[in-house]
Amino acid sequence: MQVALARETDWDGWRHATRALVLAGVAPETIDWQVGGTQGDLPDAQGTFNVPRTLVAIAALAVQARAPERFDLLYRLVWRAHHGALPAAPADDPALADAQALAFAVRAEAHRMRTQLRFMPVEDADGSRFLGWFAPRHHVLEANAQLLARRFADRRWSIVTPDGSAHWDGAARGAPKPAEASGLRFGAGARGITDDATLAAWWEAHHPAVLAESVPDSSVPEAEALDEAPRPLDRPPIGPVVLEATADADVQRAREEARHCRRCDLWAPASQTVFGEGPAGAPVMFIGEQPGDQEDVIGRPFVGPAGQLLDRAMEEAGIDRRTVYVTNAVKHFKFTPRGKRRIHQSPDAAEIQVCRFWLDVERVQLAPRLLVLMGGSGARAVLGRAVGVTRERGRPFALEDGQTAFITVHPSYLLRIPDEAGKAREYAAFVEDLRRVRALMEAA
Ligand code: URA
Repeated sequence: MQVALARETDWDGWRHATRALVLAGVAPETIDWQVGGTQGDLPDAQGTFNVPRTLVAIAALAVQARAPERFDLLYRLVWRAHHGALPAAPADDPALADAQALAFAVRAEAHRMRTQLRFMPVEDADGSRFLGWFAPRHHVLEANAQLLARRFADRRWSIVTPDGSAHWDGAARGAPKPAEASGLRFGAGARGITDDATLAAWWEAHHPAVLAESVPDSSVPEAEALDEAPRPLDRPPIGPVVLEATADADVQRAREEARHCRRCDLWAPASQTVFGEGPAGAPVMFIGEQPGDQEDVIGRPFVGPAGQLLDRAMEEAGIDRRTVYVTNAVKHFKFTPRGKRRIHQSPDAAEIQVCRFWLDVERVQLAPRLLVLMGGSGARAVLGRAVGVTRERGRPFALEDGQTAFITVHPSYLLRIPDEAGKAREYAAFVEDLRRVRALMEAA
């Protein structure tokens, strides 16, 4: 009996065929599982049967493993479960242990992809888009794309891998499931990408066709199963591709080292370290509090709602964000999980103090003349004390090391103001502060 699955991650196809074949009493050794090809007629499935929940959970992940034998292995397990011949614990059964190992490998790879994926901004006919590249060891693109679409719903992005690409066009917020309803689309992949330059060249040449041809064809189960980082997990070394704006070689080295930072516990639940970014020789360093939910997923500072507001205010004040360095007091996202949401938690004084190590590295190596401290955490990180932002904002003052500091509010504060009039007033005051910053930049 030949079973042709539509693609490597055809979970629905595998489940459908498995149910029909088990019910029809088709023994595992008579089935030839293939990806692609022509599907023979499946037996008419009559009736139902139960499979232990743990086996379903293992299969949902293991089906994404890059292991040709997985469909057969999983079918054999379901077959044995149906015939009452499957022990409960993987330790008691080599085949079950193999499937569980595949499931763990998939989960670890999904986590690795999430922590190492970097995006760079590109322009296409419809506007700007974040573009990322990764070569996953297993077929984890689709599940990660679902996750990213939930976390990063209001932006346009594409992820390219050697086997395929995923595209999101910034639909309204909400859970993107099933894929069809969500606007998540999948298309051709790219080989031979080694760095951001080759990715940019490939994208330039191929994106109209790839975007036009991509379709919503994922049936990968439960991105939630991947949501949890496998723990304990010592994160693997840096992957082959890092796509980011870089300042200079020393900052780049620090950025690499910071990826493995264990100076406090905030690294563990976070997806990745979010280091600052901006050009070498930037005259000004903007210092916020810590990455938010979107920054944590994307790996870049100030790209979420607060970042968008900062961009707008900078533009109004005549500051080109590409000419300044933007960073945070704390380099990991601190949050409390609430259902599927991650609620921001401000870092405490000890966490700010510990993470000051990285901020000092950035300050020393980039040597900006002016530091813009946005909000209490950014100010505390530099001044080492609690700061009354409204009282102390808006005027430059000298620091011991010769740099100049300037305190202003944090853009998230503006987002939280409930009444429109108050929000407009505070926003105007923020832009006014940034105009002063621009004047200081020009005077320096
Ligand atoms: N808030 C911050 O302080 N930093 C970010 O990068 C995003 C939101």
